[in-house]
Amino acid sequence: GKVRAPTHIISTISDDRGEEPCYAGVPMSSIIEQGYGVGDVISLLWFKRSLPRYCTKFIEICIMLCADHGPCVSGAHNTIVTARAGKDLVSSLVSGLLTIGPRFGGAIDDAARYFKDACDRNLTPYEFVEGMKKKGIRVPGIGHRIKSRDNRDKRVELLQKFARSNFPSVKYMEYAVTVESYTLSKANNLVLNVDGAIGSLFLDLLAGSGMFTKQEIDEIVQIGYLNGLFVLARSIGLIGHTFDQKRLKQPLYRHPWEDVLYTK
Ligand code: ACO
Ligand code: LMR
Repeated sequence: GKVRAPTHIISTISDDRGEEPCYAGVPMSSIIEQGYGVGDVISLLWFKRSLPRYCTKFIEICIMLCADHGPCVSGAHNTIVTARAGKDLVSSLVSGLLTIGPRFGGAIDDAARYFKDACDRNLTPYEFVEGMKKKGIRVPGIGHRIKSRDNRDKRVELLQKFARSNFPSVKYMEYAVTVESYTLSKANNLVLNVDGAIGSLFLDLLAGSGMFTKQEIDEIVQIGYLNGLFVLARSIGLIGHTFDQKRLKQPLYRHPWEDVLYTK
């Protein structure tokens, strides 16, 4: 009989061996002819299934809203400094991407984890927030450097508006909003931020679409797929900042002495 040599790699999301490449079994020609968008391609390659239009639209809205947030944020700052040091596109891009993490842009997965756990266990916002405080953990998805009760994050409002009129349920997002009401009673800048909005709303998308089993949802949250949305989105802006600096022929950046407190 046939002897099957053991393979060293297993892959389940795409296949380029036939006449045309397939994403999760869907041939490239169908993707183009049926007018699929980036949200559909993300659904196929990340979640290995086609999702309903309101879900792929939500993914696209996340990508568009998080594509950039000006030159002053951690990621853009790093990219700008790197581009001005004469480095290439990929170096400038990854230098910015490397700042994405628990404080900046990369709190989506943890926000989803903590909001899901707290909501599923019916914790009151008081129990949840004070419990986190006791553990010395900042609530992921809450707080912003410049956004506050009186200067709300438009991105969060837009995501909430879309979900309220398109999702079958926004249970987790509403829970996050009750948490925000509690944290806002403590300090003005403890708003639900864009990471927290995406984290909680993606839980609603996963649970409400009927496309995922409970086990699959737990796996997605545990592995941590959702920071990928910010990484992907912000790459668009970081690439733009790289081109901008090159186009402007900006010289090597050196931080001014006056802006450093030299002390012993
Ligand atoms: N949960 C609980 N308390 C908080 C939180 C939070 N998420 N954020 C701030 N506080 C409180 C704490 O008491 C903090 O004191 P500490 O340093 O002893 O913990 C105090 O507010 C001071 O915080 P600020 O200086 O006002 O906050 P800062 O501007 O330094 O931080 C930040 C902003 C990094 C976003 C912060 O709120 C945070 O860590 N949030 C959680 C992570 C997060 O969601 N990041 C994503 C932000 S959105 C984005 O990047 C796209
Ligand atoms: C961002 O999207 O980069 C931000 O919300 C972070 C910031 O400080 O503005």
